[in-house]
Amino acid sequence: MIRNMFGWLAILSIFSGCSADAGDPVLLPDDRFLTIAHRGASAYRPEHSIPAYLLADEMGADYIELDLQMTRDGQLAVIHDNRLDRLAGMPERVRDLTLDEMRRIPYGNHFNEENPGIADPDFAGVTFSGLSDVLSRFGNTANYYIELKDPGKWGEMEEAVLRDLTAYGIIGERDVESDPEGLPRVILQSFSEQSLIRLHELRPDIPLIRLYSFKGEAHLSSSTVRKLAGYASGVGIPAASAHSDFIEKMHDAGLAVHIFTVNDEDEIQKFIDMGADGIFTDRPDAAVRLSQRH
Ligand code: G3P
Ligand code: CA
Repeated sequence: MIRNMFGWLAILSIFSGCSADAGDPVLLPDDRFLTIAHRGASAYRPEHSIPAYLLADEMGADYIELDLQMTRDGQLAVIHDNRLDRLAGMPERVRDLTLDEMRRIPYGNHFNEENPGIADPDFAGVTFSGLSDVLSRFGNTANYYIELKDPGKWGEMEEAVLRDLTAYGIIGERDVESDPEGLPRVILQSFSEQSLIRLHELRPDIPLIRLYSFKGEAHLSSSTVRKLAGYASGVGIPAASAHSDFIEKMHDAGLAVHIFTVNDEDEIQKFIDMGADGIFTDRPDAAVRLSQRH
């Protein structure tokens, strides 16, 4: 079920620990459906928190998903929004704070107030993390699916991510570590084509996912798909846009399709049946169960 011969070579390079040929994007295995824990098991615990990632890991998620924003002191904070109001009830922006200041903000308290049905006294001490904190906590026991948010706004966000991944042994000098099942330890994702092309130039061995949003059904021209296949391993698209013709077209080009964000069990099953290669979900328990039944 490998999509083409190029895919075989790329997959073999992952299994053998060798880097992909320079310039060739890594192709992801297409014989399994990936559960990507969106901001951790975020249906149950504060998003992007260590407890949410621990639960995702316990539930058997294939990847934990992290969004990154840069702080005032040029560190990488694990947070989706560029402001703290939704998560912490504070007016500050991420770029106004240092990472150490963010590490002292107990946004778990705010989570408990906003989510009384799933509040837990243990969340009270939950604070924001840096990428380095999550990598330090999980090391090579988890797989990471990392989004660079608004990389064009920052200088050298790509280099900062690669530096942290190298420091914690997730990537070697020339190759990405793999888990025991052969999945690459890290996938990088962004809505920014420029950022992904930069990452591909720096590290062609790291699988990259180009995120898209569409007004209606997903569609990419043939020339766009050709360009995409030159640097990316796949695309991430919203559930509302996904359809089988698009998935088939991506597969014909050797590209994986991951769909965000899917929590309803019937919807998860629909995308498994449609041939998608994985979903981002706040409920990794449901996705793991359904994909294993498949
Ligand atoms: O990264 C895929 C998906 O997470 C994109 O949506 O807004 O949750 O980052 P968002
Ligand atoms: Ca994301």
